[in-house]
Amino acid sequence: MTADHAYGPRARKEDARFIRGQGTYVDDITLPGMLYGAILRSPLAHARILSVDVTAALGHPMVEAVLTGADLARRGLAWMPTLTGDVQAVLATDKVRFQGQEVAFVVARDRYTARDALELITVEYESLPPVIDATTALDPGAPVVRDDIPGQAGNRIFDWAAGDRAATDATFAAADVTVGCDMIYPRSHPAPLETCGIVADMEAVSGRLTLWCTSQAPHAHRTLFAMVTGVPEHKLRIVSPDLGGGFGNKVPVYPGYLCAIAGSMVTGRPVKWVEDRSENLMSTTFARDYHMHGEIAATRDGRILGLRARVLADHGAFNAVAVPTRYPAGFFHIFTGSYDLQAAFCEVTGVYTNKAPGGVAYSCSFRITEAVYLVERLVDLLARELGLDPAQLRLRNLLQPEQFPYTCPTGWQYDSGDYPRALALALDIAGYDDLRREQADRRARGEYMGIGLSFFTEGVGAGPREHMDILGLGMADGADLRVHPTGKAVLAISVQTQGQGHETTFAQLVGHELGLSPDDVDVVHGDTDRTPFGLGTYGSRSTAVSGAAAVMAARKVRERARLVAAAMLEVAADDLEWTSGQWRVRGDPEQALGIAEIAMAAHSSLRLPAGVEGHLDASAVYNPPNLTFPFGAYICVTDVDPGTGEVRVRRFIAVDDCGVRINPMIVEGQLHRGLADGIGMALMQAIVFDQAGNCLGGSFMDYLLPTAMECPSFELGATVTPSPHHPVGAKGVGESATVGSPVAVVNSVVDALAPFGVVHADMPLTPASVWRAIQGRPLRPDLVRD
Ligand code: CDP
Repeated sequence: MTADHAYGPRARKEDARFIRGQGTYVDDITLPGMLYGAILRSPLAHARILSVDVTAALGHPMVEAVLTGADLARRGLAWMPTLTGDVQAVLATDKVRFQGQEVAFVVARDRYTARDALELITVEYESLPPVIDATTALDPGAPVVRDDIPGQAGNRIFDWAAGDRAATDATFAAADVTVGCDMIYPRSHPAPLETCGIVADMEAVSGRLTLWCTSQAPHAHRTLFAMVTGVPEHKLRIVSPDLGGGFGNKVPVYPGYLCAIAGSMVTGRPVKWVEDRSENLMSTTFARDYHMHGEIAATRDGRILGLRARVLADHGAFNAVAVPTRYPAGFFHIFTGSYDLQAAFCEVTGVYTNKAPGGVAYSCSFRITEAVYLVERLVDLLARELGLDPAQLRLRNLLQPEQFPYTCPTGWQYDSGDYPRALALALDIAGYDDLRREQADRRARGEYMGIGLSFFTEGVGAGPREHMDILGLGMADGADLRVHPTGKAVLAISVQTQGQGHETTFAQLVGHELGLSPDDVDVVHGDTDRTPFGLGTYGSRSTAVSGAAAVMAARKVRERARLVAAAMLEVAADDLEWTSGQWRVRGDPEQALGIAEIAMAAHSSLRLPAGVEGHLDASAVYNPPNLTFPFGAYICVTDVDPGTGEVRVRRFIAVDDCGVRINPMIVEGQLHRGLADGIGMALMQAIVFDQAGNCLGGSFMDYLLPTAMECPSFELGATVTPSPHHPVGAKGVGESATVGSPVAVVNSVVDALAPFGVVHADMPLTPASVWRAIQGRPLRPDLVRD
């Protein structure tokens, strides 16, 4: 096999169009006769709608239609199912339940008129007291957010638990030392560069509905849209063109999408709706918002015995989290982390509040970042309590390589790992002992330097379809591969890239299996008419599931090629072996055929063996037997100015193990992005509300994104522990760094502030928050109180 077929660093194919400004995003789509939609949103967090008067807006000469909740109700479209079986208002009919909720939709001949006409609509509201603080949502007498749900008395959505409560309590009772802490993982937002949008085109004569839509899961969305609109699924096509990032934001279905569909149905013309930045931040799905109490139990000499956690999950006004159905708290119960424990128990309660709905897996696999945050903060708290070095405490308790496959106390089976090796490498790259010496010297000089560690285990590649579904759709993915007569191939996949480089890495996967150059393999994605069914891209599941489907399809093609090659060479198929990207006759390697020659023969008049069809095409559907479990060891070095509370991230060392790396350059790019995410979350990001429910994070002036200025030059290291069950040993990686990095930053800042007696401070560690922590008056990050 030549280097061209091997896995390895390779520039992204898709960059050829991106760096020339030739990408095609939803907002680039323009159809003849297209109209533009705009949404009127609620200014109040909780209010009864008394009347909506659209007469003046309808009278505008450039306005083609105005839709209200009542109009949609007549069409059966006023409510839609969420991905987790709740219902969400498309346009409010009875009440508004969060600031920014959709109330009316104007369709006009241009975008500006649509926006202007919103001001011609008069809505009469009767203000209601809002539920803003999740910790009071369950109080008796709290206003009921969801009085539309028959039988819903309070704001409780679910109670869910995992692990063994009795065994855990017994472990805690017998332990020498227990440490506990309240911590908040604040509401954050995926904030992709491209906001959400759609062009809906309902053709009245054919009954076909085509949607160009910002979708991370086009096939699942097609099914959902078919169920909601009544358009038969075979007449519904979703095209998800180039996406300007997703990070989980484009997994849910939003009211704006259905408004545009209804607008197209009403006007008979295509309708485009693209939200602006504030709409995106204030009304589309958030992430996190977990209020956690965690406890850790250990022996006096630092052997971790057990973990306990109690979580209050703020799900906003509609339960629109995107998690597999059976797991209302996602995969949070992997909160036992990377350690060898006796027992663990966690319980999670979900509540409604008057805030935007959601709860997506923003660059993590369904709540694993919250879980990692909890356990890694607790391990640091324990180290402080025991007077042990946090690296030594981790090394003492990490799972050992021989313990894999390892079943954790809450039931996950980790596939493979060599945790001590990864941590040792990170410590080595960091020069850990020198750093600790430097810290001591600086402290003596009154300088505050922090060293923060984290060790994480992710669980990606959802999922075994028997255990995991969304909307009743099992989480498996398909791949179709066609090899043309000249040996050029087209792979159609169900997942949808949002910038992760699938057009390159999936071509590498197929090229590697078939001895083809990745340049000779084109990857088709994001169009339900051209690709096989699958559940989409989130939770780093593309490589683990869809990538495996691509490999399985390629291996089927390779086997068919073997039979054709046997006919061509007039030998038995068993006499052929696959080496260096060709089928070769055993013992006579000069007799060899590559896929291109075989493909031509497979399409020719060559007499094929009985039972062998012509052509070189194959399909596969991959149902993963388990998640893959990437892991990593991170070390963050910070300098904190106690006068201003400013934190500077001086160094960030990240050792990741995602099994076999298909394209290490793309993997590193993914890690850089995730590390920047983590710095953003730890230091500057939270969607904050005031007591009236006004969202204070609705612009990039308030909700800050990290730039190169805030990030150091990342120092990466890698170990490779293949997944035993993935066909090429790969594990997902897209979100690893977002999972592992926030807590490393927080641990580092808390370490820097140790001389002030600070043991914990909630994210985001803004200068104000750090300064308040130093004063012993920590800030609550999610609410404006004073
Ligand atoms: O689902 P998503 O694409 O976000 O995440 P992923 O499957 O972890 O992949 C992110 C990117 O890294 C893709 O282009 C992968 O093919 C690539 N990757 C890789 O080259 N080697 C791995 N072991 C894992 C991912």
